Amino acid sequence: MVELIRAALDMGWPVMALLAGLLVYFQVSIKDPARKRQATFKTFIGMIAMFMLLMAIVNYKINFFGESRLLPVSLVMITALSFMMGIYFSNIGALFKIGGFMFLVAAGLSGYGNWLPQVEGGFPPPEVKLDFGSMTSQQLADEGEKIIFGGIGQSKVQGAIGKGQCPLCHGFNEGFLSERAPNLWGVPDRAKTRLDDPRYHKGKPGDRDSEQKEAFAGSGTAETGQEYIAESHSCPSCFVVAGFGVKGTNDKQSPMPAIHKPPISLSLGELAAVDTWMYIREGKDAPSFEEITKSYEKFIPEADRPKQQEDKPAAGGGALLADGSEPVDQIFAKAQCVACHTIPGIAGAVGTIGPKLVEKTNAPTRLRDPGYKGNAKSVREYITESVISPSAYVVKPFPDNTMPKIFGQKLSAGALNKIVDYLSQVEEGKEPPKIS
Ligand code: HEC
Ligand code: HEC
Repeated sequence: MVELIRAALDMGWPVMALLAGLLVYFQVSIKDPARKRQATFKTFIGMIAMFMLLMAIVNYKINFFGESRLLPVSLVMITALSFMMGIYFSNIGALFKIGGFMFLVAAGLSGYGNWLPQVEGGFPPPEVKLDFGSMTSQQLADEGEKIIFGGIGQSKVQGAIGKGQCPLCHGFNEGFLSERAPNLWGVPDRAKTRLDDPRYHKGKPGDRDSEQKEAFAGSGTAETGQEYIAESHSCPSCFVVAGFGVKGTNDKQSPMPAIHKPPISLSLGELAAVDTWMYIREGKDAPSFEEITKSYEKFIPEADRPKQQEDKPAAGGGALLADGSEPVDQIFAKAQCVACHTIPGIAGAVGTIGPKLVEKTNAPTRLRDPGYKGNAKSVREYITESVISPSAYVVKPFPDNTMPKIFGQKLSAGALNKIVDYLSQVEEGKEPPKIS
């Protein structure tokens, strides 16, 4: 309800402002006090009516695609409005009353239709089993958008992220700056051309100068655009896009995690959904589900294919990266801190995109920096602040806005607490603390 009012205000403030202007104009222009009062009253009613109309429209807009039972409420509101106007603006009242009557009939009919299943006890929505293989490409693309961004339509929302975690590193929108990883707009077309890159070494894995020659012994290299995409996802270090390799490896090693492996662990069906979204959202025909899964089978051996979790639909928008029940090293892995930070004592935490997290040593130095403008007073507070609002203090020489600002929502309090416990004990040159 509050959301509705806010949305209506967002949309309708110019209209409301115009009406308020009219109100003032009426006040000033009419001299006779009795008529003046009446005019003011009518304008007031008009404003309330306009606001209700806006709410009705917004309610309709918001709930239309949700197939919500609240839809008829809009019609009822418009009906009530028409009658109200009919009473107060008597000269054109007949028109309003006819309009009102028509809406009443429409509201009655649609309301009846809408409430009907409810009256009969309702048909519960069928159990959603995600059978990726039998979806249309649009349905598959929707699932892909959920996996990458956490929900349908979320690809337009700044900072949205799903269990695929791709937006931690990749930009997805045309023309968007994407410094940590290639912008994935245009990948369907670009994929084919990557195979002609002299560094790709089509068909001769042994000649590659990358850290990993092929996804697994005998897998071979990609021969089509779709195979290039599948290989990029399952064996990022097989071919590293120039300039995006881990610092100091001369583009031989990729910072991207293999997305069929933990912690991301996408199944082949989910991978196909992700890819389908990337084609469909650019208005391109996606390869069939079978073609896509086949391209992954080439690079992911049977034993490494995660099982599709039947009863757990692909990541919801509110899904946490870690809930705090995990040991701290898993929390660092699940939240992908490891991709950007080196953390002593945590296996695989060798990232160099951000500072080495020796916070028992670093935090006091940061707090003493005259440039520190944050609110933290202690080491623990500094770490918490750094994780939740990374821009409160930007460690030199790292750029601002590199560390995602999502962890406040995406980590449970318990998970955050474990992170802070651990990092506050890590000291430069000392043994790392034990993993709890
Ligand atoms: C930790 C950062 C990170 C995450 C998370 C990540 N990527 Fe990447 N990705 C990279 C980097 C860096 C590159 C470029 C180096 C390379 O080729 O491996 C890359 C390359 C790619 C490429 C090849 C792009 C090209 O232009 O050739 C694709 C496709 C891709 N990623 C898709 C994804 C998808 C889909 C996800 C999520 C399921 C994802 N990535 C998650 C960092 C990441
Ligand atoms: C995409 C890369 C990236 C990811 C993912 C990331 N960080 Fe960072 N982080 C950075 C960068 C870059 C900085 C330095 C710039 C700044 O202060 O914002 C930083 C700064 C920090 C600092 C301050 C360090 C200091 O010495 O003052 C802490 C603490 C930190 N990150 C913790 C985390 C934790 C915990 C996670 C996972 C939940 C995480 N980061 C995930 C890139 C990342």
